[in-house]
Formats: sequence, structure tokens, C-alpha cells
Amino acid sequence: MNIYFLLHDDARAELSRSHAPSGMPLKDDIVMCGNERDCLAWFRPISPECDLLWVWVAPQKRNTGLGTVFLKNCCVQLFQNHEITEIFCEVRLSNCIAIKLYCCLGFSIEGIRKQYYVDKVTGYREDAYVMKLNMEQSLLYNF
Ligand SMILES: CC(C)(COP(=O)(O)OP(=O)(O)OC[C@H]1O[C@@H](n2cnc3c(N)ncnc32)[C@H](O)[C@@H]1OP(=O)(O)O)[C@@H](O)C(=O)NCCC(=O)NCCS
Repeated sequence: MNIYFLLHDDARAELSRSHAPSGMPLKDDIVMCGNERDCLAWFRPISPECDLLWVWVAPQKRNTGLGTVFLKNCCVQLFQNHEITEIFCEVRLSNCIAIKLYCCLGFSIEGIRKQYYVDKVTGYREDAYVMKLNMEQSLLYNF
């Protein structure tokens, strides 16, 4: 099913602007929604690793702690139900809030992908951090 069907209009607009892949999850992708579709996370598992492709919280619910609680629950479920031990993600260097969110959950910066993001309209390029969460270390000691 196309992920766009799960989303509110404002989430659709943000997804279509972002670097996240087109709205079509692959067969084994895991899409989790919470709080009446006010938050969403899209994962691509390649067990025992997993890529976090996109996490989103409705604009009116941001900065209330929802993203932290929701993503933490998603990670715990991946660990407990899908035997995922490492989660990777890319994030724009300018996306301080997402970087903070990932750091709060125990992700660490593993490297930089140069000019990873390209603005579809302006062609402006931006570097990405590659971040990693080691579930066994974080879940056992922090969650
Ligand atoms: C990134 C995103 C998911 C965070 O969700 P959220 O619910 O706002 O996150 P939280 O409220 O749990 O906050 C996480 C941290 O960021 C901080 N933060 C959140 N919004 C902030 C803001 N506007 N200004 C400064 N800090 C902010 C919080 O204080 C918290 O840090 P703390 O634990 O040290 O206090 C949300 O902003 C979003 O959907 N953004 C658009 C999509 C996106 O960029 N996704 C990530 C890349 S794929």
C-alpha cells in the first residue's frame, strides 16, 4: 500500500519535499503510526540491521516529547519483535532537532555522506550525517 494513504495532508507535503523515497514501501518495510496518525516512522529492515527512512510528527504536536517517546517505542518493538540489533539513519546536518532526537535515543554519528541531499527545486546540495543506534547496548542500559 502506498504510504501516502496513511498520512495527513501536511505529512504528505513534507514527505514529497523530503529526501525520503517515493511513497511506496517495499514488501518488507515496516511503517508504524501512533497517536491517531500524528506520528509516523518508516523502517527498512535488512535483519539484523534496519534503516530508518523517515520519522515525522504532526507540526502542531512537535516539541512536546512525542517524537522521542514514539521513536523509542518503535525501536523497542523492532528489537523485541523483529530481532533488529542496529538501526541506521541519514540526517541533514542542518536538521538540529532530528539530530537531537536521535542522540537522545542513543544514536551516535558514524560518518558524513557528502552532498547526500539534493533540493528538488533549487539543486542545492547538503551533507548528511550517518547515525547508528546499537540496540543491545542502548536498550539494555538506557531504555
Ligand atoms: C524531527 C521530529 C520528528 C521531532 O519530533 P518532536 O516530537 O518535535 O521531538 P521531541 O519533542 O521529542 O523533541 C526532541 C528533542 O528536540 C528538541 N526540540 C524539539 N523541537 C524543538 C524546537 N522547535 N526547537 C529546539 N529544540 C527542539 C526537544 O527539546 C528535544 O530535546 P531534549 O530531549 O533535549 O529536550 C519533528 O520535528 C518532525 O517531524 N520534523 C519533520 C520531519 C523530519 O525532519 N524528520 C527527521 C528526518 S527524516
